[in-house]
Amino acid sequence: MDGFQPLRVAMIGTGYVGLSTGTVLAYLGHRVTGVDKDKSKTDLLRAGRSPIREHGMEELLELSKGHIVFTQDTSKAVAEADVILIAVGTPSKDNGEADTQYVEAAAEEVAQSLLPGRSYVIVVKSTVPIGTNRRVIYVINRVMGERGLSRSTPVHIVSNPEFLREGMALYDTLYPDRIVIGAEDPEGVAAMQRLYRPILEQTFNAPSFLARPSGYGLPPMITTDPTSAEMIKYASNAFLSLKISFINEIAGLCEKVGADVSEISRGIGLDKRIGPHFLKAGLGWGGSCFPKDTAALLAIGKEYGYEMPIVAAARQVNHEQRHRMVEKLQQALKGVRGRVIGVLGLAFKPGTDDVRESPALDMIRILVDRGAHVRAHDPAAVSNAKQALEELDVEFASNPYDVSLDAEGLVLATDWPEYVTLDLERLAQSMKTPVLLDGRNMLDRGKVEAAGFLYMGVGK
Ligand code: UGA
Repeated sequence: MDGFQPLRVAMIGTGYVGLSTGTVLAYLGHRVTGVDKDKSKTDLLRAGRSPIREHGMEELLELSKGHIVFTQDTSKAVAEADVILIAVGTPSKDNGEADTQYVEAAAEEVAQSLLPGRSYVIVVKSTVPIGTNRRVIYVINRVMGERGLSRSTPVHIVSNPEFLREGMALYDTLYPDRIVIGAEDPEGVAAMQRLYRPILEQTFNAPSFLARPSGYGLPPMITTDPTSAEMIKYASNAFLSLKISFINEIAGLCEKVGADVSEISRGIGLDKRIGPHFLKAGLGWGGSCFPKDTAALLAIGKEYGYEMPIVAAARQVNHEQRHRMVEKLQQALKGVRGRVIGVLGLAFKPGTDDVRESPALDMIRILVDRGAHVRAHDPAAVSNAKQALEELDVEFASNPYDVSLDAEGLVLATDWPEYVTLDLERLAQSMKTPVLLDGRNMLDRGKVEAAGFLYMGVGK
């Protein structure tokens, strides 16, 4: 790579953001130390194994060997680093606010570890409430002042939000739509340009399992102030979630008037001002990001006495969508009480074992609450779902065909590609009453009906 200058990077937190970003930076040639307090994680990572299910992670860790190490010791990693990225969790508090205590604690620990006489760049990657970068600057300046290092050790703070989808995090890091940098001084911006240069110029050799998408150009780097960078992250996730809620709301009306929402998505998505993405109607959105970030955005608005009815409505539509789907099943079966209902899919989306805020799990809770007996399958998420639904009497099957056995209704709740190739006739024949609710609109109605099912989709 022409003129590439490797940096020493400390990544505080090896959750899916920290680990994906850190592994990619190592692959690009930087010297990365991943820091995590959780020994079980660092032990796994040292053995080359990934604690999370993420496409290409173990392969990329293998290719980055020698460029990335893992430790529990923040101070050593930080002291020797040029750039320190904070990527720790910001869980929701009861009032929806994102809890920044781990970010602050990390900032404090980082500041305690900086060596006198060197300059450092500290990057906040965690999704944080507006103003947190200012708070991080305050914490760092306070510690540096207490240590008497304010003058000798310049620290540049940068906000660098992430836009990584779980399951696609490595791909999204290598081929971003944009890189957002919020910095108050040019040194911070320059360091980020150096850090991301191979991505900005696409000079790295694309790994075979993470091929460069055809037609991919060079991603723009947007530089702005830290507060705007923080807001870009929240606005992005809120906009995507309201796009989905919007199409789900239209889907409801489509059912009333006899239109097909997939046709609507296609018809409006071709308008470049709208775009085709995130217009798939279904059970709604879940995961660790949209629910948490929209709640945090509302909490920020509330703090400033500012109402955000559009974001609030997106959340409400999303919540009601699960109930609407159960309602549909109730009507078709004339009640679910005492009936066996099969559920295909537990993860909040395909390609992950993550069940946080999963629409599938919410739907199961409602079904059980209404007296149904639920039997469920997922290619990856059964173990996490078992934990999350511990208090409920739900049966889990390791084979999708066991789910349908003597069932009176079947719900397709997560759009795993493997469900498209299921033997529909076999499923239908094993059921007591072959009724299928395609909660992700992924199956072909004609084929499902030909197999003997009564088919219901979303907005069809
Ligand atoms: C999301 C964003 O897409 C990332 O850009 C962001 O960085 C990340 O949150 C984050 O803040 O860390 P993720 O939570 O992994 O990523 O999930 P998505 O792929 O965005 O899907 C979210 C939910 O929306 C899933 O439940 C999915 O099934 C649902 N969805 C998505 C729909 O119902 N319809 C669609 O058309 C698209």
